[in-house]
Amino acid sequence: MSLVPFDDRDGWIWLDGQFVPWREAKVHVLTHGLHYASSVFEGERMYGGEIFKLTEHTERLFKSAEILDFKIPYTVAEIDEACKATAAKNGLTDCYVRPIAWRGSEMIGVSAQQTKIHVAIAVWEWPSYFDPATKAKGIRLTWAKYQRPDPKTAPVAAKAAGLYMICTISKHAAEKDGYADAMMLDYRGYVAEATGANVFFVKDGVLHTPKPDCFLDGITRRTVIDIAKGKGIAVIERHIQKEELSGFTECFIVGTAAEVTPVSEVGEFTFTPGKLSLDLMDTYAALVRGQAMAEA
Ligand SMILES: Cc1ncc(COP(=O)(O)O)c(C=O)c1O
Repeated sequence: MSLVPFDDRDGWIWLDGQFVPWREAKVHVLTHGLHYASSVFEGERMYGGEIFKLTEHTERLFKSAEILDFKIPYTVAEIDEACKATAAKNGLTDCYVRPIAWRGSEMIGVSAQQTKIHVAIAVWEWPSYFDPATKAKGIRLTWAKYQRPDPKTAPVAAKAAGLYMICTISKHAAEKDGYADAMMLDYRGYVAEATGANVFFVKDGVLHTPKPDCFLDGITRRTVIDIAKGKGIAVIERHIQKEELSGFTECFIVGTAAEVTPVSEVGEFTFTPGKLSLDLMDTYAALVRGQAMAEA
């Protein structure tokens, strides 16, 4: 696979209030965020010039920073504007948007009270996480070796860099075995989420999804619940045991990057992407592109 490294591209990155040429948007190696994961970020998508649920994402970024005990030195409105301006500056109308905030290099150590808080926003073209043919067939997932941690163990409501350590290890292991992703259980053994997306199951025309009490309650997850309810589909948020997967007929994952992606396999359990998954996939695709739910 030929890679275009992310530090060697054309374009502009918004860094601490200014546009910086892409290759010059650098940090020092003694940056607290790099050593101690004092870093929070967002993943957003712009469709046809509009960032879907932009303010909800920015508010979550601020909330994540607050949970990690730092304050972003801008307002939500300023970051919203900066996200839009970064896409415009790069001449993009359909792209992925990545705001990130982190502690700087004034102090290195567990205590980092005097560090400056930095914010950067980068945008790039990122069509679909999974190609359309794979999506329609459903992707294959295996079980992750790590579990989502107890809220007493980690700041689980934050979209914080540190929480992705177990996701990257789990996804790499899955990919080595030929799977697209890994499904994580939580610290109690309940089904939780994939490494970068929430999960839904279908049984008798009803949606079942894990209760987000120890992992991110994704913006896409909440959007899909609203779409389903708008269509008169019942949605049950509850703890789901691994063994229950044998009783579900369809499964799909949802997230800003993954959008709505049907799943054909989770470890020993198999599913067939059906009417409900494909309909929600299409309705979500229409909604994010600005078409009214009723028209979709
Ligand atoms: C671990 C994890 N869970 C869930 C999600 C879905 O969140 P959202 O729909 O807000 O993108 C993401 C993506 O950000 C994620 O990384």
